[in-house]
Amino acid sequence: MIIQPKIRGFICTTAHPIGCEAHVVEQINYIKSKGPIAGGPKKVLVIGSSTGYGLASRITAAFGCGAATMGVFFEKESDGKRTATAGWYNTVAFEKAALAQGLYVKSFNGDAFSDEMRQKVTAAIKNDLGQVDCVIYSLASPRRVDPKTGQLYKSVLKPKGVAYTNKSIDFEKNEVISVTLETAVDQEVQDTIKVMGGEDWQLWIEALTNQGLLAPQAVTVAYSYIGPDVTTPVYRNGTIGAAKDHLEATAHSLDALIKKQGGRAFVSVNKALVTQSSSAIPFIPLYFVILMKIMKHKNIHEDCIHQIQRLFADRLYNNRPLTEVPTDGQGRIRIDELEMRQDVQEEVAAVWKNITDMNLWQVSDVKGYNEDFLKLFGFGMAGVDYNADINPEVLIPSIIENQ
Ligand SMILES: NC(=O)c1ccc[n+]([C@@H]2O[C@H](COP(=O)([O-])OP(=O)(O)OC[C@H]3O[C@@H](n4cnc5c(N)ncnc54)[C@H](O)[C@@H]3O)[C@@H](O)[C@H]2O)c1
Repeated sequence: MIIQPKIRGFICTTAHPIGCEAHVVEQINYIKSKGPIAGGPKKVLVIGSSTGYGLASRITAAFGCGAATMGVFFEKESDGKRTATAGWYNTVAFEKAALAQGLYVKSFNGDAFSDEMRQKVTAAIKNDLGQVDCVIYSLASPRRVDPKTGQLYKSVLKPKGVAYTNKSIDFEKNEVISVTLETAVDQEVQDTIKVMGGEDWQLWIEALTNQGLLAPQAVTVAYSYIGPDVTTPVYRNGTIGAAKDHLEATAHSLDALIKKQGGRAFVSVNKALVTQSSSAIPFIPLYFVILMKIMKHKNIHEDCIHQIQRLFADRLYNNRPLTEVPTDGQGRIRIDELEMRQDVQEEVAAVWKNITDMNLWQVSDVKGYNEDFLKLFGFGMAGVDYNADINPEVLIPSIIENQ
């Protein structure tokens, strides 16, 4: 099959196995170039490990810390007619590279919100690793079935209290448009909390602690976002922000739970980045193309892998006692400090005010965004022959072994 990008709205429906491998190898090489992370974890569970921040976390744990890793994700394999999803190919490439270095890997494809998945993963930890010393929670999903009641909840991206109108970008036409989001009703706020809040993270950590599968000094981290004034009404003060507030409150209760045995639970506030999930949020992509141009100009641009390398090396590990992990006044780890720097935000606000279709390409990095977006699906990677006939059906080594 000759595999080319097929873009529908904010999603690409094809992915390239060799290109995804090149993208994963690029991230592995970056982690190796930064050298080993002293005192890093050795047995790591990443929930949401196939793309974005979760993939970067799995790569950092394996190649920066030499950790055995288990990964959970929801991806589609190829049926021969359609390609697999990018996260599937990313995991093939990750496992191949980790196995070549003699690292333990096991991956689970299915619904991380289900009790069935929790049981499978905890049984595998008991059997293969004994315990885990780090759990990264990096799920981003538009829906969740409550494992206790079977009820389906859907998250929405809406402001709370009042409708919100602002500029956004239409990537199909590369135009600046005006978008209005109607205010959420209370049920939508509650449903979004149910999907993207901390309830499921708590179920995972409780399942692990109840079965004695968390090592005494284990760390668990979930990812959050704050962002600038222009996205606050729809993000931090909107439905998703309510879910992030819940996630952050959950970090405090999990911290109290696992502190008793010497562990810690944190939320890490990460920077805005192009991922499959973030490109679906109104206003964020326009903010992001402006931010990208400014951060590149100031030489402080980062991708998921740079962010997570700093999280592990400069915040959580490098022989730092867990009691001394630096946090803000609300106990959150901050690796969004470069994005939130005053000079950066002032420049973003100034550009935002004046951005139109006419100057879009000059004052923002639409080109860089498009390149990064395609990269998520393995396209535009140097050295990959996109005219070659490729077999889309590739298997994840640890999943074949499990069957
Ligand atoms: N991208 C950003 O700009 C940004 C910034 C700060 C924080 N975050 C947070 O980081 C976290 C990860 O987001 P991302 O942008 O890396 O997303 P992503 O879409 O790249 O990754 C989501 C992961 O979750 C998995 N997943 C989704 N539903 C699942 C299910 N039901 N069962 C098992 N796995 C499932 C996917 O397979 C994938 O591995 C989210 O909490 C997000 O809010 C993102």
